[in-house]
Amino acid sequence: MSENEIIDGGLEVLRYPNPALKKKSEPVEVFDDGLAKFVENLFAAMRAHDGVGLAAPQVGVLKKVAVVEYDGKSYVLINPKVIDQKGIQEGEEGCLSFPGIYAHVTRPQWVKIEAQDVTGAAHTYEGEGYTARAFLHEMDHLNGKVFIDYLSNLKRTAIKKKLAKNTGGHF
Ligand code: NI
Repeated sequence: MSENEIIDGGLEVLRYPNPALKKKSEPVEVFDDGLAKFVENLFAAMRAHDGVGLAAPQVGVLKKVAVVEYDGKSYVLINPKVIDQKGIQEGEEGCLSFPGIYAHVTRPQWVKIEAQDVTGAAHTYEGEGYTARAFLHEMDHLNGKVFIDYLSNLKRTAIKKKLAKNTGGHF
C-alpha cells in the first residue's frame, strides 16, 4: 500500500464522464464491518481531497452510501431520503468528480432527511443552507444525477469542453 492510499482510504475518486456517475445505486441491505470500513474510507478520501461530501458511486461503488462533513459536523447517509423541504437557495456548487468546475445551482434552502448509519439505525437530519445543498448533491449522486444536469445544454457543453481540455482530451 502506498502512502497515498493510506491518506485517501485507498479509494480513487472517479471523474466525469466516468459511466459510474450516471448509474442509479442499489440500496444497502447488509450492515456489516465491511460497510463500516467503507464509510471510514469514504470520509478519508473526502478529506484527502478537501471535499464536503462524497458518494459511493464517485469511487465506483453503486450502493446508496454517502458522507457529508460541513461546519464541524459529520453525517453518514445510508439509504437517504428527503422527508421535507422548504424555500429556495441560489449558489455555486462544485464536485470532486469535476475538479475546478463550479456552477450556479438552485436548491431548497432547508431539508429534512432520513438516513441509516453503519449499524442500520435510522436518523433524521435537518440541513439549512450549504448543509442542505451538500445533502441534496450527494443524494443526487446515488440516483445517477450530477450537478451539471441542472444546467442549460449550452452551459453543460461548455463545461464538458473545459473538462476534456483539462484531462488531455479523454472523454
Ligand atoms: Ni459531487
